[in-house]
Amino acid sequence: MIMEPILQAKKICKCFTRPTRVDVLKDVSLELYPGQSVAIMGASGEGKSTLLHILGTLEAPDSGDLLIAGISAAHNPTPLLRNRHIGFIFQGYNLLENYTTIQNILMPALISGKPIHKGTPAYQRALELLGKVDLEDRAEFSTKLLSGGEKQRVAIARALCNDPGIILADEPSGNLDHQTSKMIHDLLLHCCKDLSKALIVVTHDRELASLCDKTVQLCNGEIKCINPS
Ligand SMILES: Nc1ncnc2c1ncn2[C@@H]1O[C@H](COP(=O)(O)OP(=O)(O)OP(=O)(O)O)[C@@H](O)[C@H]1O
Ligand SMILES: [Mg+2]
Repeated sequence: MIMEPILQAKKICKCFTRPTRVDVLKDVSLELYPGQSVAIMGASGEGKSTLLHILGTLEAPDSGDLLIAGISAAHNPTPLLRNRHIGFIFQGYNLLENYTTIQNILMPALISGKPIHKGTPAYQRALELLGKVDLEDRAEFSTKLLSGGEKQRVAIARALCNDPGIILADEPSGNLDHQTSKMIHDLLLHCCKDLSKALIVVTHDRELASLCDKTVQLCNGEIKCINPS
């Protein structure tokens, strides 16, 4: 059986025009298969987050197409498609600070219409995910009380809530100590290798990049494969 890519980006272009024109992405194409991990590297401002937002259907490209599980999603993505297939870990966490840790993790389940009260399968799964990120004792904490590394781990657990096939992580260990970074890297790579999820991770961390199946570099709006070439 030939495996189909779960995500395909075809000749994605993006420029911002206000306040001045910035051509961020020029004909970027990328394919991602279940169980495959790809690291995106590149200097600050090269467009890594912009690319990830487009791949995650959070932002539309100016041209080009995006297929998620074979469905065209570049211009009219349904929230359902995103909610079902994509777990997004934002560069700035994007947690809802007036909600507790467990409520944040359950947000994707709530959006997809699942019951989320205590005792439901979704709630049980959220508790398991809390365990995986080593935060069982923070379930009822407001996320504004958490440290940066703890917020990042909650953001990862939230991304995994609906068991998506694609995980998009934007600098998931940007400002963390080595031990916490390693825990986060192990968790993401475990999801990829053992649970067959497709992973794209934006990172400046060469160690993490070296653990991924493929590394690409974003430079001057174009993508170049640096490993394996
Ligand atoms: N909404 C916007 N309007 C105008 N310009 C933008 C907008 N969003 C991003 N940019 C510009 O596009 C470029 C790419 O930004 P992006 O955030 O994708 O970079 P990045 O590679 O993720 O950087 P970093 O490593 O610092 O996170 C930057 O020059 C930024 O100033
Ligand atoms: Mg960024």
